[in-house]
Amino acid sequence: MPYQRLPADYSRAAFDTLLARLGTTGCILDAGCGTGASTQALARLHSQCLVVGVDKSAHRLERAPRDLPGNALLLRADVVDIWLLMAEHRVKVVAQYLLYPNPWPKPAQIMRRWPAHPIFPTIVRLGGRIECRSNWHVYVEEFALAAAAVDGRRPELTEIADGEPISPFERKYRASGHRLHAVTLPPRLP
Ligand SMILES: C[S@@+](CC[C@H](N)C(=O)[O-])C[C@H]1O[C@@H](n2cnc3c(N)ncnc32)[C@H](O)[C@@H]1O
Repeated sequence: MPYQRLPADYSRAAFDTLLARLGTTGCILDAGCGTGASTQALARLHSQCLVVGVDKSAHRLERAPRDLPGNALLLRADVVDIWLLMAEHRVKVVAQYLLYPNPWPKPAQIMRRWPAHPIFPTIVRLGGRIECRSNWHVYVEEFALAAAAVDGRRPELTEIADGEPISPFERKYRASGHRLHAVTLPPRLP
């Protein structure tokens, strides 16, 4: 049964802003973008595409970089609502980044982790290239298992060893000597 819930008004308003900016090339989603530093980095990397950073924390978004590229858009919304609305409106999603999501490590919290959340099949079916990064290997393993259950393909697990950190949490974990992991599901060929 499809996941059903009514998106909050503030998420709908944010989604309308997204729709108004959306062109024919679709968009890249930075889900749980925090301060938007990763949205800025992704927008610089993909200058031809709209890069949308979504976070529900006004406090984090208040610390957004001032020099965002013109193809970057930061929205305050519940990203679960944005995923649902993107699916309903058949938004073309080129890529999705889920960078260092809250781990919710206790057994009682498992449903809050994206791979076990009822929104997860929608995330996978929205498609594009999907990449999740975490400092917790269990999280990316669960993500790979859940993606394979929805999609039939087993995503690739890699370790992120070098390069400029893409987000504040990546920078923080790397500075603390954590091993960093990524799981990537390539886009489906049309
Ligand atoms: C651990 S932080 C990571 C932030 C950023 N991606 C990074 O790597 O620096 C997780 C972020 O996800 C956001 N978040 C968690 N659940 C969310 C939801 N349902 N909708 C929007 N943002 C959410 C939090 O507000 C927080 O900013």
